[in-house]
Amino acid sequence: MPEKELKLQMINVGLRLYQAGLAVARSGNLSCRLDDAHILITATGTFLGSLKEDDIVKVNLATLKPEGKINPSSELPLHSLVYKNFGAQVVVHCHPPLINGYFAVAKQLKAVTFETKFYLGSVPVVAQETPTVTSPQEVVDALKTNNLVVLKNHGTVAASDNFEDALSITEALEEAVKSAALARLFDKDFLDQLDTSLKAELKRNDPVYEMFSRPHIQAIVDLVNKDEFIARKGKEMGLTVKLAIRLDDSQQAYKFNFKEGQITELGSDDQAPFVISAPANVWEQVFLGKLDCFVAVTQGKMKLSGQLGQLSKWYVPFTRLFALFKEVKIK
Ligand code: 13P
Repeated sequence: MPEKELKLQMINVGLRLYQAGLAVARSGNLSCRLDDAHILITATGTFLGSLKEDDIVKVNLATLKPEGKINPSSELPLHSLVYKNFGAQVVVHCHPPLINGYFAVAKQLKAVTFETKFYLGSVPVVAQETPTVTSPQEVVDALKTNNLVVLKNHGTVAASDNFEDALSITEALEEAVKSAALARLFDKDFLDQLDTSLKAELKRNDPVYEMFSRPHIQAIVDLVNKDEFIARKGKEMGLTVKLAIRLDDSQQAYKFNFKEGQITELGSDDQAPFVISAPANVWEQVFLGKLDCFVAVTQGKMKLSGQLGQLSKWYVPFTRLFALFKEVKIK
């Protein structure tokens, strides 16, 4: 896209953040890729709500040298490290007030709507010791598990393929913490009972497996078939479907043949109406329990062939299945 058009997009994004109350005063900064070697980033000290073309600086990604006399955002080290680590096209950083208030006291997001679970999952929270991010690698590590990261006592960082998606997850989190705060008003002991019971039920000193090896996936199948919750919900919801998982750039795939909530057969192929595929680094985050499969699909970190809408009718047993994934330890 031409430079001028990208600048106009950034001006619109700044205005929308301001109008939504997510970026007021001189807080927040935006950037996007211009070409292989350059990014555009807002200048330091700008008002995102009333950006002008001159407030946007072209910066060489390799040297971090700006073109012209205006200084780029003080968060340039963070923005540039994101582009060096991911294929992201845009980075949006802002200081949403409800998110900042919520995470000042809460350690993690208590998702109270399906939408939140689907599109945001467990948003990672990273603490920094300075007002400007000075340990950007920690933020980059967190972005491997979610396109949105909370900077404790500071704000959010969203990295995405386009501004629409980055705005969407940022706005969705502000809405989600509003709902969580309301739920807390109605019930002070508001707790996610499923998580608690899952932790209580499972033993933790089990064997360690080579990721995506047959013994690894078989251990998951054994765990699933012993799980009373999946059995009950699977029966209630008619969980009879074939779902395959595939490791990108390899021939490895496994097909789970579900019948009424039980896995009756484990195949070594991906001939299934639903196939979830991802590279090894993404699967690793999933099996470590740091990345939720549904969120990974909605945020584009994993690919799903088959309709997410259809798969989501078994949202409850599949959420449990994915939670069980992390209970089988990998090397
Ligand atoms: P800049 O004005 O330097 O972009 O800084 C604003 C900000 O939000 C820092 O986190």
